[in-house]
Amino acid sequence: MIRVHVNDPLDQEAFNLLKSKSQLDLSSEHLEKDKLTTLMPQIEVLIVRSATKVTRELIEEGKKLKIIGRAGVGLDNIDVAAAKEKGIKVLNTPGASAISVAELTFGLMLSAARHIARGTIDLKNGLWSKKELEGFELFGKTLGVIGLGMIGKEVAKRAIAFGMTVVAYDPLVSSFEGVKMVNLDELYTVSDFITLHVPLTENTKHMINTQSIAKMKNGVIIVNASRGGVIDEEALYNALVNKKVAAAALDVFEVEPPFDDLRKKLLQLPNVVATPHIGASTFEAQQKVGRELVERIFKELGI
Ligand code: MLT
Repeated sequence: MIRVHVNDPLDQEAFNLLKSKSQLDLSSEHLEKDKLTTLMPQIEVLIVRSATKVTRELIEEGKKLKIIGRAGVGLDNIDVAAAKEKGIKVLNTPGASAISVAELTFGLMLSAARHIARGTIDLKNGLWSKKELEGFELFGKTLGVIGLGMIGKEVAKRAIAFGMTVVAYDPLVSSFEGVKMVNLDELYTVSDFITLHVPLTENTKHMINTQSIAKMKNGVIIVNASRGGVIDEEALYNALVNKKVAAAALDVFEVEPPFDDLRKKLLQLPNVVATPHIGASTFEAQQKVGRELVERIFKELGI
């Protein structure tokens, strides 16, 4: 029997697929760090989403561990180098949630440009704030896409359909239809909206900071549905207060849930719209993520 532990929520259909294999001994209770560490020596396949931090310490305990399955895109919660050293395969599902994240990015952009969240809150509080909520169109504006991978490309396609000019920066991509590839400085200079679709790495950590914000257009709108850590949130807070950045639309935070002092004051600003890391949280994305991951695991196990 192959011992498989699913530590974060997995789509039901994917879970049933795992259950259908008699070779697998399955458990799925969410365990916090200490209990998971105790279980690690027995596990051969560990499946997580973003909540479980698969640290070097945890991996060291995985004496029989063969596969870490990440139901999603980002690998920043997994010590991939530690896994590699031990010959443990790390499997993820890079494209499965791309459309969902791209659609949420658009929702965030529109919400920031048209005050949808503020309008909702005001109406619920009995306020008719029509005069205060004049926004602007996306049509004719320039969108700067940082990171033109699977998600960035889906965002670019939708922006073109909205009549936006799209520029993008990605060191690994040289061209994409309808998009002008530029360097970062040019992207900062010309963009009315900037959206981030990069993984969190040593190179991207705090890439949006006081210096990069200074290069941006006055009144730029920043959208982030990638990882909170790519933005220095203290710098963003200051730029939102002095209106250098007109608005920020954030699905992700360096600290999640974002309830420490810095994140709390950021969220209180009227020019911030925010969602609780729900980019991939759609029925369709979770179904694709779950199915794709389980199929990859079966292939790896040869079952
Ligand atoms: C991802 O990396 O796939 C997303 O951030 C979604 C998630 O894990 O919740």
